[in-house]
Amino acid sequence: MPIERKVIAPEAIEAQREICAKIFERVAGDGQRPLAMVDTYGCQQNEADSEKIRGYLSEMGYGFTQDEFQADVIVVNTCAVREHAEMRVLGNVGALNHTKKARPGQIIAVCGCMVQQEHMAEKLKRSYPIVDLVFGPHELWRFPELLNQVMEKHKRVFATAKEEAVAEGIPLRRDGQVKAWLSIMYGCNNFCTYCIVPYVRGRERSRRPEDVVAEARALVAAGYKDITLLGQNVNSYGKDLDCGVDFADLIREINAIPGDFLIRFMTSHPRDATEKLFKTMAECEKCAHHIHLPVQSGSDRVLKRMNRHYDRAKYLEEIETARRYMPDLVITTDIIVGFPDETEEDFQATLSLCEEVRFDAMFTFIYSKRVGTPAATMPDPYTRQEKQLHFDQLTDLANRISGEKHREYEGKTLRVLVDGETGREEYNLSSRTNGGRLVHLKGDKSLIGRFVNVKITASNTWALYGEIVG
Ligand code: SAH
Ligand code: SF4
Ligand code: F3S
Repeated sequence: MPIERKVIAPEAIEAQREICAKIFERVAGDGQRPLAMVDTYGCQQNEADSEKIRGYLSEMGYGFTQDEFQADVIVVNTCAVREHAEMRVLGNVGALNHTKKARPGQIIAVCGCMVQQEHMAEKLKRSYPIVDLVFGPHELWRFPELLNQVMEKHKRVFATAKEEAVAEGIPLRRDGQVKAWLSIMYGCNNFCTYCIVPYVRGRERSRRPEDVVAEARALVAAGYKDITLLGQNVNSYGKDLDCGVDFADLIREINAIPGDFLIRFMTSHPRDATEKLFKTMAECEKCAHHIHLPVQSGSDRVLKRMNRHYDRAKYLEEIETARRYMPDLVITTDIIVGFPDETEEDFQATLSLCEEVRFDAMFTFIYSKRVGTPAATMPDPYTRQEKQLHFDQLTDLANRISGEKHREYEGKTLRVLVDGETGREEYNLSSRTNGGRLVHLKGDKSLIGRFVNVKITASNTWALYGEIVG
């Protein structure tokens, strides 16, 4: 049964854009260009949200700066996934004391996942008087209205309602011209026991396929070449809709859009990565042969306590199926070290799984306790030092495998998409292979946004180096 999902009425978004026009009159009406700074922490979902915030700010007449002393409005878009992310945010928000003193009238807003936790919103209210506006992910669609309240009423505004919805029609200001994020769904239903995301982002809500496809079409028409479909668990796309389109079907629809571009996606949850998905990836010529499939641990005991709904055998079986369809598939993963009560034996199981799969890249994290999650109350006899040792061991393994895999590319010719400049002389351009591997090369910057063939001549743990051929 499809769940009830609230959709923000198009008129409500239109009303927000009218507020933007009103703010424009006030702050930019006489030809001056006010400046804003948007500082983003966390994952691609947050990057995508920041593009909406910038979209609204653009409509209000703001230009953008990276210099907090120049900014009339500062928006800090926060992450709550690990304690370290939150500490960095709080430190940086605290430091804005100086800029606000130097620039009276500056408005400081803090939004995103961190503030959706009550204790954090409370902390900002009590201990950070320089913060004028706090709004959670569910309130983003009405950012203009909230900002306007701060401007007109000269009071602090806190908006962290829990009501979840899908909003279409928010203006977007994308950063680059080659790669684009495309959110296809919001929220997460998985409740992995360590993770804060479902609490701050709410339940899974899919955008309608026609809205996603229309946006993809517009991106291709605008010249974007690398489109990443975003969701915390893209494999469950469409389950909350009643239109019979699943994630694999969505890829097929986007693949049918005429043009030379790449389709990427993240993140896939191993619990429901299907053979249909791998088959679709193999058959759709625009779909990149890369999957980010976070395994988190190689130990069945730990996976169970993490509430991941798969075991080591099922994960390995999925990898085997995926490689059967795409022998050149690039596989990357996330791993948590030091989950409560993770024993030496559990950790060894993770190491052996990594040796077995040979991931192209691994993102490794030391477990961080998140208030309100089930794992936060699990007993844990191990010290930080013990976890750090394991973490270092795993990083060494990840680097070794990555380096070895990169060496296998040497001498091969690959098609890459040139996506930017490196700022270095010898290898001045950066590019990505179909599988997402970074390739540095030398060439004219007019190649940015173009596909070229590159012969790989050298490599290290982090990147490949090559020469343009043909
Ligand atoms: N939805 C994605 C992941 C989002 S969070 C997925 O399920 O794959 C990105 C990564 O952060 C996770 O894969 C996990 O490895 C890590 N992570 C999440 N919560 C964490 C915590 N409390 N401590 C350490 N790492 C965590
Ligand atoms: Fe967090 Fe698990 Fe959801 Fe990923 S799938 S966002 S790790 S709860
Ligand atoms: Fe962080 Fe929120 Fe993403 S907690 S990882 S920014 S969904």
